[in-house]
Amino acid sequence: MTHTTPKHVQPITLVIFGASGDLTRRKLIPALYVLYKQKLLPPALKIVGTARRPLSDEAFRQQMEEGIRAFSRIKPQPGEPELKAFLSLLYYIALPGGEGDYRQLREKLDSLYAAEASETLPDSRLYYLATPPEAFWPIISNLGKAGLITPVDDPQRWTRVIIEKPFGRDLQSARELNQKIHTVLDERQVFRIDHYLGKETVQNIMAFRFGNSIFEPLWNRRYVDHVQITVAEKVPVGRRAGYYDKAGALRDMVQNHLMQLLALTAMEPPASFQDKAVRDEKVKVLKALQIMTPEQVAKFTVRGQYTAGVIDGQPVPAYQDEPGVAKGSRTETYVALKLFVDNWRWSGVPFYLRTGKALKMRLSEINIVYTRPPLALFKHEWHHGHVEGDQILPNRLTLRIQPDEGIRLRFGLKVPGPEMILHPQEMEFCYSKVFNAEPPEAYERLILDAILGDSTLFIRQDEVEASWEFVDAIIAAWQEQLDLPIHPYAPGSWGPEAADRLMERDGRHWIPEDQHSGQNEPRKG
Ligand code: BG6
Repeated sequence: MTHTTPKHVQPITLVIFGASGDLTRRKLIPALYVLYKQKLLPPALKIVGTARRPLSDEAFRQQMEEGIRAFSRIKPQPGEPELKAFLSLLYYIALPGGEGDYRQLREKLDSLYAAEASETLPDSRLYYLATPPEAFWPIISNLGKAGLITPVDDPQRWTRVIIEKPFGRDLQSARELNQKIHTVLDERQVFRIDHYLGKETVQNIMAFRFGNSIFEPLWNRRYVDHVQITVAEKVPVGRRAGYYDKAGALRDMVQNHLMQLLALTAMEPPASFQDKAVRDEKVKVLKALQIMTPEQVAKFTVRGQYTAGVIDGQPVPAYQDEPGVAKGSRTETYVALKLFVDNWRWSGVPFYLRTGKALKMRLSEINIVYTRPPLALFKHEWHHGHVEGDQILPNRLTLRIQPDEGIRLRFGLKVPGPEMILHPQEMEFCYSKVFNAEPPEAYERLILDAILGDSTLFIRQDEVEASWEFVDAIIAAWQEQLDLPIHPYAPGSWGPEAADRLMERDGRHWIPEDQHSGQNEPRKG
């Protein structure tokens, strides 16, 4: 995980399956354009989009140009030559789904470089499966049958496959998919994506923890009271209901993104930043998760579903009324849970996780809340000069993943004056101020890493399976205990109040503290 410039001189073809989808237009092609503009792509790279319907190269280029103009992090300048040059790398091949499609695909791919006499080496292939999950195995199997996958030890050319989420819908289906994939591909050729790992701030969790010596000694059960991980989204489900209604917040967000944030927060220091070392440590955490019993699921999980309401003056239909949602759907659009990592470092320290749609704001952060000093020697100011007993606010470290990426550390300071009163103050670092730039998009980093063959920021088979095992126990208990409530919550709120009670029962509260309007003070306890 150390490279920054392309090392490959050999030609590479990136084939995107699902090229007519949103992901390609909004994320993948804009990310590739930015990489191209920054001269980070290998010099001989062609990008081939495939989907069912017929489309000319020209029409595909035009659609992708629109995608770049609308969604790219760095917008093209009028008449910019780089955009034109980048678009000339794009091709389109239709795969209508008939017999022999993949043989034709092979011929067409082979012919792309044949015309260029200067290219002597055969091209390596990176296949990106940006399709619905049902298509993952058929595509890989067809690629194998058509001879489009080279052996992992081929010295001339490599084959790699990037697989989008969701990887399976439970442990069994993830295992089955893994087994099938391994009949065609070596694990070293498989790049399971979790785009959260491509976010700069997520990578910074490791940099911050293991690049500094002052935090790590305090990063354990002796000093940490609890950990909170929030991934809140303001957008409702909207057009994605067809997929979402079968998934729900636990499968869509917790099994992958939140589990990865948890693994990076809780893992032991790896011996190096090589892919194996880092992934070995992450999987140890996932395997140490305490699998919940049905009784624990009833006590430690809260499900919610948003009702009709308004966000920023815009009406939001109730989840039940979103187009594509089954009548009477019991799919959760919000979930909060309390879990434990059963190892020496974290035994007994609760981790509280929550995520949901149509919430008050877009906010992803990790909060490490430290234990209080053993003795309350001073009075403490809660808020705006209001002193309440001698309750001490704990130190707290906030890693802000998005937006306003940064880090905050809270500590107490003496308020000037005759009395010994502590005021909670935050020391803050903000990415955009310090580096004077927006961090790169996650997909930029991840596509580049796959091109360079670095799988550190991709998910290994055992990680997927360990997190499904944890999530499966919750889903099974929800399915068995039909009387477990799905709490309604208003769009634009912080989710159901039952999630606040999950915290309050333990004498804790969610961060940020302004959970409900007009209530800006942290609760006691
Ligand atoms: C995706 C989920 O993986 O992540 C979506 O399927 C979610 O439901 C998205 O909206 C959130 O990603 P980000 O980068 O906007 O936080």
